[in-house]
Parts: sequence; structure tokens; C-alpha cells
Amino acid sequence: MRTNYCGFINETYVGQKVQLKGWVARRRDLGGLIFISLRDREGIVQVVFNSQQNLELFKIAESLRHEYVVDIEGTVAYREQGQENDSMKTGKIEVHAEKLIILATAKTPEISVEDGQQTSDDLRMTYRYLDLRRPKMLANLRLRHTVTKSIRESLDTLGFIDVETPYLTKSTPEGARDYLVPSRLNEGSFYALPQSPQIFKQLLMGAGLDRYYQIVRCFRDEDLRGDRQPEFTQVDLETSFLSAENIQEIVENMLKKVVKDALNQDIPVPFPRMSYDEAMNRYGNDKPDTRFGLELIDVSDIVSSLDFGVFKQAIENGGQVKAINLKQQAEAYSRKDVDKLGEFVAKFGAKGLAWTKITPEGFSGGIAKFLDAVTIPLLESVQGEVGDILFFCADKPSVVAQSLSELRLKLGKKHQLIDENQLNFLWIVDWPLLEYDNEHNRYVAMHHPFTKPKEEDMDKLISHPAEVRAEAYDIVLNGYEIGGGSLRISTRSMQEDMFNVLGFSKEDAQEQFGFLMDALDAGFPPHGGLALGLDRLVMLLAQENNIREVIAFPKNSRAFDPMTQAPSPVSETQLSELHLSIL
Ligand code: AMO
Ligand code: AMP
Repeated sequence: MRTNYCGFINETYVGQKVQLKGWVARRRDLGGLIFISLRDREGIVQVVFNSQQNLELFKIAESLRHEYVVDIEGTVAYREQGQENDSMKTGKIEVHAEKLIILATAKTPEISVEDGQQTSDDLRMTYRYLDLRRPKMLANLRLRHTVTKSIRESLDTLGFIDVETPYLTKSTPEGARDYLVPSRLNEGSFYALPQSPQIFKQLLMGAGLDRYYQIVRCFRDEDLRGDRQPEFTQVDLETSFLSAENIQEIVENMLKKVVKDALNQDIPVPFPRMSYDEAMNRYGNDKPDTRFGLELIDVSDIVSSLDFGVFKQAIENGGQVKAINLKQQAEAYSRKDVDKLGEFVAKFGAKGLAWTKITPEGFSGGIAKFLDAVTIPLLESVQGEVGDILFFCADKPSVVAQSLSELRLKLGKKHQLIDENQLNFLWIVDWPLLEYDNEHNRYVAMHHPFTKPKEEDMDKLISHPAEVRAEAYDIVLNGYEIGGGSLRISTRSMQEDMFNVLGFSKEDAQEQFGFLMDALDAGFPPHGGLALGLDRLVMLLAQENNIREVIAFPKNSRAFDPMTQAPSPVSETQLSELHLSIL
């Protein structure tokens, strides 16, 4: 039987016999000596085969190749002086082999199983079982385990009950497309895989559960990015009778424990709160990365008097002019460099990126000649100093926000303004309840249709929907939205008003959500909750930049799994059982 994991052997074992099982990570032949790096989930230890001590064993060791699985018995010894490896946990010792059984041979691995190798994402996913052998990937999966364990402990202590909700269900409007599952027994009908357990968790509050949670898979058919997978995991929770602040406090304390358990780091609570408006004004973004400055500064009032067509027109058309001041980098930017940034912001709708540098003689380069008349107020407002370079965007607020927000992030990364070891948690509060969808000419819920309007705005829901703010809160970590939640509507009449504002006819609302509205008539407690994106949280704690790195078997950007080749065609028989045909 195995006596130890490789990575746990140290000097205290010197002189002892051990039996190890693991994979051959490396083999070096030095004349009469063969050195094997033996790897298991806890690390690597060096094993030595000596031809002078046991020629037969040495001969077997000669046949070992990368990734063979072996069973080795031997004695732990200090390495020879000068042979120690300080970068290895087990670098002071080695195991002198006395027995070797090859449990499995292995083909030459298609991808490297060592950390730090460049391998294409699709190859990594095709051979995921090899990719997961890499110590970093294993560490990420273990980190995820630590995080979920910590979350369960935290919520259990607070009396949250873990309840499972259906995967084969009816569509819930979280804003993405549904994954549909055809029903064999109900011809022409489909289940939707849940985008979240939103309605079920509310019904559990109606049922009197009081505090529910679930670490649950959610499914959304949407355009994929580094922080979006078609199936992902939420830490989903719901409570009755609590205020938004009570719920936020529960989440803060849970995250404090998670960060302590996972990284042994203390994070301060409560987290700062910022209104949606302030986030948009200062960062152009509802999930600002507050680890660095480079904020957006509204200079519309200052530049509106200037004879510069670009600014003038934007302001006259109801737009704005905002600037960012990149401190002490003027010299790093040639005209060509600035042009490249202009091309970059064009992707977000900006029609250009005006710029100027601050020199001892005043503004210089770019649009300097237009700015003379406002030198003093402009310098004051952007806190300009000699050596700074200013960038301006003039357009409608949504274009300015997106363009400068993306520029800010790009420059922040480029100039290393971000401390990668910092964890900046932040609540974004005071959200608008609705946003106007220009394409379809109607209001849509900014969070979801069950979010409660703020008490003081309630009477404006029908008359001035755009002005109504929501009892909603998002939680942001280092520029990522890691969670969102709200207090919920808990009466039929308010839920009916909400559906009405969202353009549902009474009949449609009844057909889709009749069961929820009936439940609201059955004695329903005030309630609210939140869902955290577990994959994003773990990604950030692992300092990765794609959630695939913390998911064992993820999909690629086409929602395809290169290993199993899912999704794949199915047989005619299967299709006809499901009453389907492919066009
Ligand atoms: P929301 O839609 O904001 O809220 O989702 C909650 C959190 O889930 C994460 N997330 C994702 N992670 C990876 N891939 C995706 N495709 C993806 N989509 C969302 C985000 C997000 O903040 N029912 C509500 C919660 C509530 O009101 O209680 C909900 O689902 O981190
Ligand atoms: P033009 O007068 O069009 O040559 O533009 C002068 C400068 O203003 C150039 O640097 C453009 O990139 C920049 N510019 C043009 N449109 C905008 C805009 N909407 N916002 C900011 N700068 C712009």
C-alpha cells in the first residue's frame, strides 16, 4: 500500500522505507544512475535507480517513459552535497529505489503536462485529462474545492438550507437565450435549462424555508467571453424578512471567510458602496476596477465654449466630453501610438480620440491649439502636470463611457498601474430598475422582472418608469461582476404592474408566470437574495484571466467541447422519438 504522497516527503523521513505511486514526470540517465521525478497530486520527489546496487531494477527503470504510472518502494536519503534543489519542496532528499512495478505505460503525451508551456486552448481542452495533470490546474481545482467548502460552512452556520431545484424547467427571463430540451412524452414541447433558479428560490421563501442556498449549475446560450461559459455555477441564495443591507452583510462575511480560508488573506468588511451613477461617471463602467485611478473626468462645461467642432457638436447634440489624464507618460506616446489608441476606441463607437500633452510651455500636440483659452480651468480639472498626456472622447454618454472605460483598462494594464495582489470588493447600489431597449422600443429589466422598485420611487413605476431605482445590488471584484441580487416584489399587484411596464399583456404574464403570481396571493413574505458567479470568484482568487482555468471540463468559445465533441449530431431514431426533424 502507498505510504506517502510524493510531495509530502521531507527530511524527517530520512532512513525510512516508503512506497509511492505516481507518474513519471521526468527521467534523466547519468551513466549508472537514473533519476526519475515522480509526480502525484501533492508534488514531485526524486527517485534514484543505481545500476551498481540493483542491475535488474536498473534495467526496468531504463524502460520508463514520461507519464508511465509506477509503484516504487525505496528508502529516503539526503541528496549528495551540492545536489540539493531549493526550488523544490522535496529538494533536500531523494528516494533510493528498491522495487519498481510499472502499473501502466503511456503514449508520448500530446501536450506538455508541465506548467508554463504554450499550448493552444483547443489542444488543452482536447486532452483535458493531461492538461489537468499540470500542477497549476490541480491547484485551481483544489482552490475551488476550498472555496465551496468555506461557503457551505459559512451558510450552514447562518441557518441556510441547501435545496435542489429542477434543471428541466420553464424558461426564466435572466436575459440570455435558453438551452432547450425537447420532451419525448409531450410532443412539440420543450423544457428550458434554467438560466438561474430565480423563481424557484422565491417560491421556497413562499414555502417558509426562510434561508435557502444552492451551489448550482446555470445555463445561458449567449456570446461567450473569458468570463462567460454556457454552463456556469452560481452560489445562489435567498432570504425572507431581511433588508438589502442584512443580505449584503451576510455575503460580505461569507466572502471574508472564503478569502481567509482560500488565500489566508484578511479583507476588510464592510465593502465600499458606490452608486450606479457614480460608477458610470467616474469609470464609465458599472463594474469598475478600483485598484487604480485614471478616472474619467467630465470636461464638457470647460470645453463647451471652445471653437473646436468635434467637441461643440457632441455637446450640442446632448452628448458630453470626458478626459483621462495618463500621468507622466507623455514621452511614451508618438503620434502613431496615439493613432493606435484611436483605432482601439473606434471599436466601441468613438469617432476619434483627441489628445494633447502637457509641457512647460502649455499644451502641445494633438488638439493643443484649440485648448489655449481654457488652459487654466482644464489643467485644474484634470489635475494636469508637465509630462502628462490627456485623452478626450466626445460623443453621447454611452459611447464616451464605453470607449474611455475600455481605454482606461488598456492603459492601466499597459502601464502596470494595477496591483495584481489586491482584492477590491465593491458593492454597486442604487441601480435603475429598467433600461430602454431602443431596438425593440420597450423597457427591459436591468436585473430581472422580479426586482423590487425602491419604496420612494414606487409611485413612478407606471408614470415615469425610467426614473425608478431598484432595490438591487451587484458585487464587483477587481473589475468583474461576481454577483448580483435584489429585494424582490412580493405582491401580485406590484408584479402585475412590473409585467405591464415591461410590455407583457395580462394574458402573457398569466401564462408564463401565473404560478408565481398565484403563489404571491398565498401569503408571501418579503424576501430577497443574491447569486455569486462561483467561476469568476475562483478565477480571480487564482489570479487567472479566464474562467476555463477553474472549470474541470469547460467549453470553447463556440460552446463546443473539443474532447467529447459535444454538441454532436444524433441518430434519426433519436430525433423521431423526440418528434423532431432537422431542416
Ligand atoms: P445574474 O444574472 O447577475 O443574477 O447572475 C449572477 C452571477 O452569475 C455570474 N454569471 C456568469 N458566470 C459565468 N458565465 C456566465 N455565462 C454567467 N452569467 C452570469 C456573474 C453574475 O453576477 N437570479 C439572479 C440572482 C439574484 O437576483 O438573486 C441572477 O442570476 O458573476
Ligand atoms: P478632426 O477635426 O476630425 O481631424 O479631429 C481632430 C481630432 O479630434 C483628431 O485627433 C480626432 O481623432 C479627434 N476626434 C474626432 N472625433 C472625436 C470625438 N468624437 N471624440 C474625441 N475626439 C475626436
